Amino acid sequence: MYEIVVKQDIAPKEKLLDVYAPQIAKKSQAGQFVIIQTHDEGERIPLTLADWDTERGTITIVFQEVGKSTALLGAFEEGDSIFSVVGPLGRPSHVEKFGMVVCVGGGVGIAAVHPIARALKEAGNHVISIIGARNKELLIMEEQMRLASTELIVTTDDGSYGFHGFPTQVLKDMLDDKKPIERVIAVGPVPLMRFVGLTTEPYGVKTIVSLNPIMVDGTGMCGGCRVSVGGQTFFACVDGPEFDAHLVDFDGLVKRQRAYLHQERCAMDRYQENE
Ligand SMILES: Cc1cc2nc3c(=O)[nH]c(=O)nc-3n(C[C@H](O)[C@H](O)[C@H](O)COP(=O)(O)OP(=O)(O)OC[C@H]3O[C@@H](n4cnc5c(N)ncnc54)[C@H](O)[C@@H]3O)c2cc1C
Ligand code: FES
Repeated sequence: MYEIVVKQDIAPKEKLLDVYAPQIAKKSQAGQFVIIQTHDEGERIPLTLADWDTERGTITIVFQEVGKSTALLGAFEEGDSIFSVVGPLGRPSHVEKFGMVVCVGGGVGIAAVHPIARALKEAGNHVISIIGARNKELLIMEEQMRLASTELIVTTDDGSYGFHGFPTQVLKDMLDDKKPIERVIAVGPVPLMRFVGLTTEPYGVKTIVSLNPIMVDGTGMCGGCRVSVGGQTFFACVDGPEFDAHLVDFDGLVKRQRAYLHQERCAMDRYQENE
């Protein structure tokens, strides 16, 4: 059992939990994730490590309540315990001194890009982070991202805070201005990651995205997370979750993500009826 030591409501339907998991905290690296099971019969859901603290023995997860399992997790309070937390899983982000890198985080993906930006900055890169949300209320982890980056640019779709528009518009302006960007890393909703890839491709800038297919075991056994990248099949849990954005079959990813939409809706309806 894994005790929740801190719980924060950080935006509507978005929560941050610090969970006591010293063995996982000790091994965590940027870009990795854990698989959580709220109860013994609960679904296994992957969540990215937004942070960790080896001294306190905690890991930080940030999640959006989108269905039954995340709603169950969101109902936990400080002092409650999560049935199972497995990790760290997935390959860590490739971190080295590239020069100038841009980290793009969209929505709850800002939490996931946070340790990547920090690790890249610590490796001596000039890290420009562009974080975007639909509106100011939904913007998360601004201060943490400011610390993790050399420069921070905030965007909102509705213009309620920061630049009025999408992160991809800011990124395109930088590329047009011939900023010497060596690498772009984007984490967020699939449309954002797809458009970041489409934005950088004509400029030939290497772009990495962190894919979020449905996962079950998270250890390469079930095949549920398979993705097509450059015409080859990979398992995102063990081969990723990071892949070259210019090679990802995003249509295939979206199709597979929606495979259980009916069952997911039914599970949520039943959960809400019984609440
Ligand atoms: C490696 C990895 C890391 C992830 N990290 C985070 C994270 O840090 N924070 C976070 O909030 N979420 C993260 N996700 C997504 C998260 O796992 C799903 O939102 C969660 O499993 C949904 O479970 P549910 O039962 O609450 O909703 P479900 O009932 O399973 O789904 C409800 C709705 O959400 C959509 N959905 C389901 N799974 C996903 C998914 N994987 N990606 C996008 N949409 C989905 C469905 O299409 C459906 O419309 C990550 C996914 C992966 C694969
Ligand atoms: S989640 Fe089962 S193989 Fe990746």
